[in-house]
Amino acid sequence: MPDLILPHGGVLVQRQLRGAERESALQEAKDYFKMTISGWSISDLEMIGTGAFSPLTGFVSEQEWSSVLETMHLVTGEVWSIPVVLPVSEGIAKKLKPDQFVVLEGADGVIYGTLQVQDVYRYDKHREAQAVYGTSDINHPGVKQVFERDPYYVSGPIQLLNRKMRDDFKEFYLDPADTRDEFERRGWKTVVGFQTRNPIHRAHEYIQKCALEMVDGLFLNPLVGETKADDIPADVRMRSYQVLLQHYYSPERVFMAVYPAAMRYAGPREAVFHALVRKNYGCTHFIVGRDHAGVGNYYGTYDAQKIFSSFTKEELSIQPLFFENSFYCKQCDGMASDKTCPHDTAYRYILSGTKVRSLLRNGEKLSSKFTRPEVADVLIQGLAKKSR
Ligand code: ADX
Repeated sequence: MPDLILPHGGVLVQRQLRGAERESALQEAKDYFKMTISGWSISDLEMIGTGAFSPLTGFVSEQEWSSVLETMHLVTGEVWSIPVVLPVSEGIAKKLKPDQFVVLEGADGVIYGTLQVQDVYRYDKHREAQAVYGTSDINHPGVKQVFERDPYYVSGPIQLLNRKMRDDFKEFYLDPADTRDEFERRGWKTVVGFQTRNPIHRAHEYIQKCALEMVDGLFLNPLVGETKADDIPADVRMRSYQVLLQHYYSPERVFMAVYPAAMRYAGPREAVFHALVRKNYGCTHFIVGRDHAGVGNYYGTYDAQKIFSSFTKEELSIQPLFFENSFYCKQCDGMASDKTCPHDTAYRYILSGTKVRSLLRNGEKLSSKFTRPEVADVLIQGLAKKSR
């Protein structure tokens, strides 16, 4: 990959076994101790296995966990803002011994991978919540997830042996090695990554296209892993992205693949995490708008931008592109932002996420100043089907 940005840590981690190697690993695994892991952990396992979480080669040790919490760096020195951990119950924790191999099985009985135990540790949930989310408030969806987890973590290098079966949107499940190949094939030297867990509204489109003016290509990388229950379901969103791309984007300049990880809602720390992961997918730039990965009022509007000044350009190497709050302004008669619009806020067309969801669920059309009509139609139909 001569022209592309290097993955985080310099090498794209590859821990997915294939062919005869995979067959023999599955044979050996028959004698290993079996642990059932959650859907969230399966997605983390896949992200490590495919190199999306490079330089991680497994779930983090107590020393790494502590280092990430306190310094936002791995022990080996790379920037890393959210510990990727594998929770286990006390019963299981007591059975595990260092160096032992264990099978990581889903609730569906599929063997997703193996792990060689490095250490097993009881962790401080308050400490993790405060460091990663900036709060211990259980109403925060990320904090709630931490408090509901089993009380121990097991660390160690993994092997990925099976992937989750995907029935829908299969063609959009691409690993970092694939997206890197695609960018190279397209001759893109600079690529801006866009994270989203929402339908793409006009404000999103505006900042994406502003960014695209500065680089060769836009990598649309919607998160389709676990999200909170009131977010728009991933399958409905995927249809809305497809229709949007079809009508409003140049196919030569935009490429979409999904980001199958879980949403943490960790605001600033997750913005850094999202940027590093997109570097692994081959992006040179990453969009951070207002309240990136935020939820409720836990983070300041631009906290997720400010955090990037904690790191040097060299250690990040992916360049964040910051955008201010964007909207349609009636006086400007177009999309604008706090930075470009001189008019009174009364001229702005702004809807909160909650308002949008309630309008859509009631089948009400959103203004074309807020959302493209083709997108609104897909969302209304998709949500109507879900509520039947
Ligand atoms: S997120 O949780 O994935 O960040 P969302 O899908 O809404 O949520 O946002 C995707 C990206 O667009 C983030 O970088 C976010 O900061 C940015 N963004 C969303 N809405 C706006 C807006 N109105 N103005 C500027 N940036 C925005």
